Amino acid sequence: MKRKLMAGLAVLTLFAAPAVAQDAGDDGRTPVQMEPQMQQKFLAMMRGFLDSIDDMMSALAEGDFKEVARVAEDDLGPAHELMNKLRAAKVPEEKIAEIRKLVRKRMAAMIEQGGGDSNQMHMGMGRIVMQVLGKPLPGMQMGAGKKKPQGFGGFGRVLPPEMHQMGMQTHLVAAKIADVAKTVGDKPTAEDYRKVVEAIGELTGQCRACHAAWRLR
Ligand code: HEC
Repeated sequence: MKRKLMAGLAVLTLFAAPAVAQDAGDDGRTPVQMEPQMQQKFLAMMRGFLDSIDDMMSALAEGDFKEVARVAEDDLGPAHELMNKLRAAKVPEEKIAEIRKLVRKRMAAMIEQGGGDSNQMHMGMGRIVMQVLGKPLPGMQMGAGKKKPQGFGGFGRVLPPEMHQMGMQTHLVAAKIADVAKTVGDKPTAEDYRKVVEAIGELTGQCRACHAAWRLR
């Protein structure tokens, strides 16, 4: 009985030790300050990304390249929250594809400009939705300034520009997975699998690079 307790304590110490070390720590990552609510939302989105990678790997194992493309585009790609809202609002597929193309272009342009102002990104997305659908999406904020942009990520406003840029780049890399997966026909070859795995690897490389550079706590 006593021995068992000791063993339990030893395990507890093992788990406790790294937490203490981390608290003490300058581990080379740059800390980013965020309001607690924003931080919660940010980390929930992160866990969602990991879920999406898991979904993609399961779909890949089943040879379901369509599903791989769907997850990459709608759950990990540029403006993924908007994409899910468009789907929920039953916006026709070809309109979604059009919006997607414009959002991608806009994101690439913003990266080129050096990241930065996410208000601008949100305004841009609102305008794109207006342009393609001829009306705003219910619940989508169009007005500038007065209220903070909500509901479509909105992290760029609180992230350092380099980190925001890295995040946008990550979404574009996810979109590339979809491009590759969509080229796969009915009889996937080993080369098809290799190409998709390579594209997913490029995405996880982005996760890794950002995690190596920044921390919230
Ligand atoms: C733009 C930077 C950035 C990118 C890109 C990024 N992350 Fe993160 N992620 C972070 C930061 C910062 C944290 C918080 C780390 C900390 O404070 O120790 C985090 C935390 C996490 C967590 C922990 C969540 C929690 O509840 O604590 C998971 C899981 C995660 N990320 C998954 C991913 C995955 C999967 C990807 C790639 C698809 C990814 N992240 C891409 C910055 C990023």
